[in-house]
Amino acid sequence: MSVLIKNGRVITAVDDYYADVYVEGERIALIGRDLQVDADRVIDATGKLVIPGGIDPHTHMDMPFGGTTSADDFESGTKAAAFGGTTTIVDFAIQQKGESTLKGLDTWHRKADGKATIDYAFHMIITDMPDERLPEMRRLADEGVTSYKLFMAYPGVLYVDDGTLYRAFRQAGENGTRICMHAENGIVIDEIIKRAVAEGKTEPRWHAKTRPTRMEAEGVHRAIAIAEVANVPLYIVHLSSSDALDEVKRARARGIDVMAETCPQYLLLDETIYDRPDFEGAKWVMTPALREKWNQEVLWEGLRFGHLATIATDHCPFCFKEQKELGRDSFTKIPNGAPGVENRMSLIFQAGVVEGRLTLNRFVELTSTAAAKTFGLFPKKGTIAVGSDADIVIFDPDRKETIGVDNACTHHMRVDYSAWEGHTVQGFTETVLSRGRVVIDKGTMTTEGGGSFVKRALCGSLLR
Ligand code: URP
Ligand code: ZN
Ligand code: ZN
Repeated sequence: MSVLIKNGRVITAVDDYYADVYVEGERIALIGRDLQVDADRVIDATGKLVIPGGIDPHTHMDMPFGGTTSADDFESGTKAAAFGGTTTIVDFAIQQKGESTLKGLDTWHRKADGKATIDYAFHMIITDMPDERLPEMRRLADEGVTSYKLFMAYPGVLYVDDGTLYRAFRQAGENGTRICMHAENGIVIDEIIKRAVAEGKTEPRWHAKTRPTRMEAEGVHRAIAIAEVANVPLYIVHLSSSDALDEVKRARARGIDVMAETCPQYLLLDETIYDRPDFEGAKWVMTPALREKWNQEVLWEGLRFGHLATIATDHCPFCFKEQKELGRDSFTKIPNGAPGVENRMSLIFQAGVVEGRLTLNRFVELTSTAAAKTFGLFPKKGTIAVGSDADIVIFDPDRKETIGVDNACTHHMRVDYSAWEGHTVQGFTETVLSRGRVVIDKGTMTTEGGGSFVKRALCGSLLR
């Protein structure tokens, strides 16, 4: 199968030019002006942007959590991602405490195999790591799982102590791999929660009030210190606050290899949403919690200056009815997480490019290229170049849509609400190629399945 994309404006993290892009099989074969080649399919991209498929480095498909399981599996979640212009996700496989991480990897392969419409890779969530199992981490790297998430939050569930952090960090550093950190002091937060609940403060808004930004900043500070001593590159996931960002900036100024990710919800939503009546605030109960509004412009500045490297979704959907409802009597029982994998590209195009906060190049870098480079996917993914996978989005920079469950164009996630209900975006995914297959054709899904597991390269620091 060959596809010729004609007359588009090609945007990468560094380029901006008009050209035709010729795809042969799974890869980009030629780029040039007025290409005279025969193709099985010709797509006219006049007036459209031709950008690398989005890479979402933080999703939770089919994830058991909070007494239930996230509502999208690899089938529904990757279809929704494709509709939104994302062609690769890096999902989090989970090691059960006391079990091998390789078993956890196997479980996630079985969840995804044969179901995905776009390509996918895995990070591994490490929930314990005694000395005798450290060699597993090299096996994981050999299997293409070259980054690991550890949690300072969720005591009794995913939390690990500082000794475990240090052991895993050191081993990851020695292996040339990367650590992802959920940085929040969960032990102190649990004490704050206990007091709040004892005082009868159980509505969704107490989720935010019991998770101060200082506890996120403390987690970031500690993670950086441990990573520095253990000699491993660090990636802070879902950074949500100015307080936490300050810790990243300070460390980077000292030359420490730390990067951070934020998410559309921390850039565009704030904690007042938890005050909505009738338990509606539960829809946005996620961790870290939404913050005071003033944090948003600080995060945008972090994106502009490079202190924040990527924008992921932390897509972790739970239906309002039946799942979020589990926490009607106490916010502590609301499953943490919200949907978003489908909406990220348009939301960031609107708030970033249309509203003048990001250049087109930076938009591509933040939604695709930087994640590819950070997690060992580049240049296979994350750019438009000869030899790269033909993961290409033809993006209409002018089309406006209002996001909502009732707008069939904007909602294919298997969840009964939208976290972005009523948000109008300019900039919308029109056509999507995943390794050369047209999976979305002018907004219609034409190919289902066909996504593959991607083994990632080592992604540790090049300075070591
Ligand atoms: O609330 C969230 N973020 N749920 C997913 C798990 C995590 O911490 O990333
Ligand atoms: Zn997390
Ligand atoms: Zn997450």
